[in-house]
Amino acid sequence: MNLNAIQERLHGLFPTEADIPEECRILAPLHQRAILLNGEMKIWKGETRAVHSPVHLRAADGSLAPVELGSFPVTGTEEADAAIAAAAAAWDNGRGRWPTMPVAERIACVENFTNQIVARRREIVNLIMWEIGKSLADSEKEFDRTIDYIKATIAELKNLDNANSRFQIVDGTIAQIRRSPLGVVLCMGPYNYPMNETFTTLIPALIMGNVVLFKPPRFGVLLYYPMLEAFRSAFPAGVINIVYGQGSVVVPHVMASGKVNVLALIGSSKVADRLKKAHPKTNRLRAVLGLEAKNAAIILPDADVELTVKECIAGTLSFNGQRCTAIKMILVHQAIADQFLRRFNEEISRLKIGMPWERGVTVTPLPEMQKVDYMNECIADAVAQGAKVLNAGGGASVETLFHPAVVFPVKEGMKLYREEQFGPVIPVAPFEDVETALEYVISSDHGQQVSIFGSDPDQIAQLVDPLVNQVCRVNINCQCQRSPDVFPFAGRKDSAEGTLSVHDALRAFSIRTMVAAKQTEPSKRLLDNIVLGNKSNFVNTRFIL
Ligand code: G3H
Repeated sequence: MNLNAIQERLHGLFPTEADIPEECRILAPLHQRAILLNGEMKIWKGETRAVHSPVHLRAADGSLAPVELGSFPVTGTEEADAAIAAAAAAWDNGRGRWPTMPVAERIACVENFTNQIVARRREIVNLIMWEIGKSLADSEKEFDRTIDYIKATIAELKNLDNANSRFQIVDGTIAQIRRSPLGVVLCMGPYNYPMNETFTTLIPALIMGNVVLFKPPRFGVLLYYPMLEAFRSAFPAGVINIVYGQGSVVVPHVMASGKVNVLALIGSSKVADRLKKAHPKTNRLRAVLGLEAKNAAIILPDADVELTVKECIAGTLSFNGQRCTAIKMILVHQAIADQFLRRFNEEISRLKIGMPWERGVTVTPLPEMQKVDYMNECIADAVAQGAKVLNAGGGASVETLFHPAVVFPVKEGMKLYREEQFGPVIPVAPFEDVETALEYVISSDHGQQVSIFGSDPDQIAQLVDPLVNQVCRVNINCQCQRSPDVFPFAGRKDSAEGTLSVHDALRAFSIRTMVAAKQTEPSKRLLDNIVLGNKSNFVNTRFIL
């Protein structure tokens, strides 16, 4: 098929109005005017920003135009100041209702919130799909995975709190040690997992007793609209406040206030670095960061080709390669390169390209127009330096629909060798000596994960040992990924700060705090009195069942 025919095919994949299934339609654009501030829905009368879907509609004359989804408020620094003041008042130097509330009651609030959003699952899933172009199946998975995460967090917090519902006596000191909240948390999630990755910091932060300022991602703002009432009614005033608007203006302003105690950001290291520096007292700031990655797959000569192809397809192209954990560089041993690439390209040609609601679809429209330009720029740069696009149709695009491209051989000096492409372009480099593959990971600025494909236990063991000091997860014969969410999700170098998992996130958003007394009779009587009289939320031995 020549380029024109491929482009014509891509063009024809965009739907007409009538092609959109009834149950997925956006009946009317959602123009959000309410903002949640200090427990109240305020009506915004200022500037707004239009939201367009990456999905384009094909008109009768063949022209394509993005679907209008609605608009949201572009609030400014004044509203950000009001949000900071509301959060600071709810925190009240740790004396607010929320930070001092018994854990069981905080859990009940989170459960109430969860029940309310579960009731709006369909609406939220539909908005995820339309706003970022994620397939319906993956949008549903994102929602359900988030609810499972919240439930697992509640179970983990009960265990944690119950384990701390006792005194310890060491060297004549009686102590009760618990975890206390840190204060005001600024939460920002990414557009590729606009709900899940946001909630994996926001929910642990809230449930531990912190108050939250939340800035929705660049794409994926409207999906929070059906949750606003749940946020408002489930939590005390000021415990959660949402800031909108130009991130590059509003967020540094919030940081410069010095009122943020924890920065929870899933984004880029450049932004994280800038935001940390905007805080007047960086020593008071804790950062929980999930940042960029360039995870490599290392394919050894004795790898099972069918399994490797299957895992590399999922690893490179799930949600169009827009996952921080995606495989973004394939390093394949020369001895197996031809065989691997032939099967890999065959499987790519079988992938379904289409609209997110289509069953079995893998490649869907990309949420930002500039992304297509950047993909093309990366390919052109590699081709100018001697690489080729190996698969038929690779790199063809129409508006937001981009045909995945396998680029080979990619080498040092090409953009694709080091830059995180975050999209459906797959760089492949051959290697002869496994040391070259190892050196690629060692010299990378990123350190999230790696996948090794092979079957020789000696060679795999020899690779695992140096790699575990370079990245935080080494996958053997499987793609890179975050799940299961109870496992640690972390990274080295420019890829992360801190560890997230159901267990670790509760710790990331709290600090061990203790109440201690000498082991004397008067102290024992005093502590007994507090416990038996149920006088403190901290000094107590209550169990949450
Ligand atoms: O974008 C980064 C996500 O945390 C990846 O999660 O590996 O389960 O897709 P996943």
